[in-house]
Amino acid sequence: MTRLFRGRHFLDLADFSKEELLFLLDVAADLKKRWLLGECPKILEGKIVALLFEKPSLRTRVSFEVATRQLGGESFYLGPQEVGLGKREAVKDVALVLGRMVDAIVLRTFAHETVLEMAKYSSVPVINGLSDLHHPCQVLGDLFTILEKKGTLNVKIAFIGDGNNVCHSWIVAAARLGLFLVVSTPERYKPSQCIWDWAQEEAKKSGAEILYEPDPRKAVQSVDVIYTDVWASMGKEGELEERIPFFLPYQVNEDLLAFASSEVMVMHCMPAHRGQEITDGVIDGPHSVVIDEAENRLHAQKAILSLLL
Ligand code: CP
Ligand code: NVA
Repeated sequence: MTRLFRGRHFLDLADFSKEELLFLLDVAADLKKRWLLGECPKILEGKIVALLFEKPSLRTRVSFEVATRQLGGESFYLGPQEVGLGKREAVKDVALVLGRMVDAIVLRTFAHETVLEMAKYSSVPVINGLSDLHHPCQVLGDLFTILEKKGTLNVKIAFIGDGNNVCHSWIVAAARLGLFLVVSTPERYKPSQCIWDWAQEEAKKSGAEILYEPDPRKAVQSVDVIYTDVWASMGKEGELEERIPFFLPYQVNEDLLAFASSEVMVMHCMPAHRGQEITDGVIDGPHSVVIDEAENRLHAQKAILSLLL
């Protein structure tokens, strides 16, 4: 199975089969188990990973940098001022040059087309560290957290909030893995129709159930996991004021949790805007697993890096 991953890009979970995604999760679990025992196999010895980020980051940057180092490789960070992707230099040229010098590129950018363009011209694996359309590394880590906490992916998940990149990767993951996902967003901020239609077709093969429920109180009934994300993603911060009235009913707060099972687990990709999409009481409360979820980004990144490289 490991052979199947070598040299591939990691741009969208849809690029991987169910078996491949489950294998990535197995590898993450194994690497975490070994890390807890103080073992870090030097799988990336002699490898160099470039992190090219056009947006801020804590978890994605730190988890990729730490993962690379713990596995014996080296990484470096290039922020927006250094490269000027598509401005100082064409994406194609950056891809062609970096491909001659490094062993993998983790790219965080705006338009998903930039990720596709980088992958088209890069001779080394390109990993999507978040685009406006997808956040596949996040959702891989989240699946790992669910498996770890619940012992199975046979759970019901409610995504509450903005139908944006993280929601899209959830829809793709559910479709591929045959999961139950209910998406609850304001009508105006529904997920991409194109991704939705793809997922419904895919669901016919995988047995997934992917539903839309505009009422968040109905969406959370009888689910095992409530997931949320910010109301105005990076690059959209200027829209926050106009978005708030639409999103207020979608706040994950104590009142909403009262409609859910007493066992429900609350997840958030973070950064969290406390008092907006989630209250202090919920994110700091007994249902929340957000810090374990953030830690698991490290183990998921290790799985991605070790298999692609
Ligand atoms: N969840 C996540 O990707 O966090 P960062 O934006 O801090 O990387
Ligand atoms: N939807 C958020 C996710 C941050 C990890 C954003 O794009 O800003």
